[in-house]
Amino acid sequence: MNLKGPTMNPASCTLLNAGRVVAGPGSIERLPDLVDELGGRRVLIVSDQGVARAGLVDRPRQLLVAAGLAVTVLDDTPPEPEVKHVEMLFAAAKAAGGADVVVGIGGGSAMDVAKILAVMLAQPVTLSALLAREPIRRRGLPTVMVPTTAGTGSEATPNAIVLVPEDELKVGIVSPRLMPDGVILDPLLTLSLPPAITASTGMDALTHAIECYCSRKGNLFSDLYGLEAIRLIAGSIRRAYEHGSDVHARHDMLLGAYYGGVCIATSSTTAVHALAYPLGGKYRIAHGLSNAMLLPFVMEFNLVGSEPRFHAMAAAMGLPVAGLAPHAAGERMIEALYALNADLGIVSSLRDKGITARDVEGLVDGAAKVTRLLDNNPRPMTRSDMHAIYERLL
Ligand SMILES: NC(=O)c1ccc[n+]([C@@H]2O[C@H](COP(=O)([O-])OP(=O)(O)OC[C@H]3O[C@@H](n4cnc5c(N)ncnc54)[C@H](O)[C@@H]3O)[C@@H](O)[C@H]2O)c1
Ligand SMILES: [Fe+2]
Repeated sequence: MNLKGPTMNPASCTLLNAGRVVAGPGSIERLPDLVDELGGRRVLIVSDQGVARAGLVDRPRQLLVAAGLAVTVLDDTPPEPEVKHVEMLFAAAKAAGGADVVVGIGGGSAMDVAKILAVMLAQPVTLSALLAREPIRRRGLPTVMVPTTAGTGSEATPNAIVLVPEDELKVGIVSPRLMPDGVILDPLLTLSLPPAITASTGMDALTHAIECYCSRKGNLFSDLYGLEAIRLIAGSIRRAYEHGSDVHARHDMLLGAYYGGVCIATSSTTAVHALAYPLGGKYRIAHGLSNAMLLPFVMEFNLVGSEPRFHAMAAAMGLPVAGLAPHAAGERMIEALYALNADLGIVSSLRDKGITARDVEGLVDGAAKVTRLLDNNPRPMTRSDMHAIYERLL
């Protein structure tokens, strides 16, 4: 039986890949090789305070210095950076004399800034032009991405996301020229991730895999990487949350998050991410958490019409669904997503965030603008459907 149902878009699929990808415990030791391969002599490391405090910038810096390279560190990227933060970091990078390779060490926040600075340091283009969707004409400086959360998969995607406070929106800059040249997936760098961030960023990664697998842009590549990402993440997220120092669980999470990013690079996220956008843009709820809260509710909506895919995803999650009809298997999967959130301490309550019924119309307005993602939802979602979903989260 073909559990997945018909392959989507069989005639046209493209996969953007990062350059050299090195994975495994201790793989950060390969950083000087990757930088050397890219011709780097002056390296700009972009990171953030939490990552620096966890000591995760020290070893990479030492390795590069020991290899005879000049290193500048900018470690004040805030979580979910705004336009003004990117501008400030760009000014600091220029003041430090530029660089010839940019290394992003951190979660999506630091990696996205690293990707943008690499472009801005290499050509006369402003951030406002990039946010206004001006095409990036040339590749930026070469980049190496070192994720320290198992979440966004930014190390595998052509995207970089910036918060525009005036518009209460997060804007994605998307270009193949943002694809990283090197990636280091070292699970030892994620051992210090606190449980709550492990949970929310891990659920973001799971959301990427699930959404891209069911997206209208889904294809042969997202079929392959999506199911494997679901298997890896569902099989390790509780362990990573409860026992943060479990290298095996952290390794599976990091690989699963990377595969989730690969899925974004070939397919697209859908309504979960669209409905999460105004929660981040207006109410500053962290990206991973807003997606995690929405995921089971949107999946309940999406099940109708995508039953064979839900059956395959339930099996990938390790649920005992072999003898079940696809719809029943899909219901099992949705129950499992609710249970996963509960086990990870993720409470789907917008009221806790100060959001009330009066705010729902504004949330729907914000989500409805994200047609880039909504158009890919497997089941068309109307404004009243969005209303109903947000109201269930109150
Ligand atoms: N480019 C993409 O494809 C893409 C996709 C999805 C989301 N995003 C963006 O990525 C950002 C979110 O990234 P994120 O969810 O990875 O979180 P994050 O980068 O904001 O990090 C969250 C917090 O975790 C801390 N942290 C990170 N790694 C740590 C570690 N190993 N030990 C201790 N603390 C650590 C950071 O200091 C920070 O305080 C958002 O701006 C979101 O819009 C980008
Ligand atoms: Fe995401």
